[in-house]
Amino acid sequence: MAILEILEYPDPRLRTVAAPVAAVTDAIRRQADDMLETMYAAPGIGLAATQVDFHQRLLVIDVSEDQSQPLVFINPEIVAADGLAKNDEGCLSVPEIYEAVERAETIRVKALNREGKTFELEAEGLLAVCIQHEMDHLEGKLFVDYLSDMKRQRLKKKLAKARKRDAELAARETR
Ligand code: NI
Repeated sequence: MAILEILEYPDPRLRTVAAPVAAVTDAIRRQADDMLETMYAAPGIGLAATQVDFHQRLLVIDVSEDQSQPLVFINPEIVAADGLAKNDEGCLSVPEIYEAVERAETIRVKALNREGKTFELEAEGLLAVCIQHEMDHLEGKLFVDYLSDMKRQRLKKKLAKARKRDAELAARETR
């Protein structure tokens, strides 16, 4: 397995719309395993293929507290959605930023699993938020797109500052 590089906002590659996975092959399984390893190492609770510059409809999620319930969704589709709930979200591609986003409260999702078998899952709470957030990535959409322009501009400045700080720290350490 391998740790993959996670693209960070505003990298334009995060805007790519992912293509359907044509067949669940060993290469797709390896990609899913690498994504799980990358997500656990970050650490995060969800990762979409788009975020690691792989533009096929694949995402991994584990909302358990002890990284014991890995879920792989291939070609996911939301087949039912109900209610609305506003929750704080973060994203490995938008480090250190947490903002409230409104999404469906419960969803029913249909996808292929790691073995290529179709499954359906009823989700609520954190898992429902996470699935909807990761599926947005496959459309080239980020959670910051839901925020007002003013808020987004502020976030961009904050991120640029954080990156500058990290670069300065790295430079100091290698000196
Ligand atoms: Ni994300």
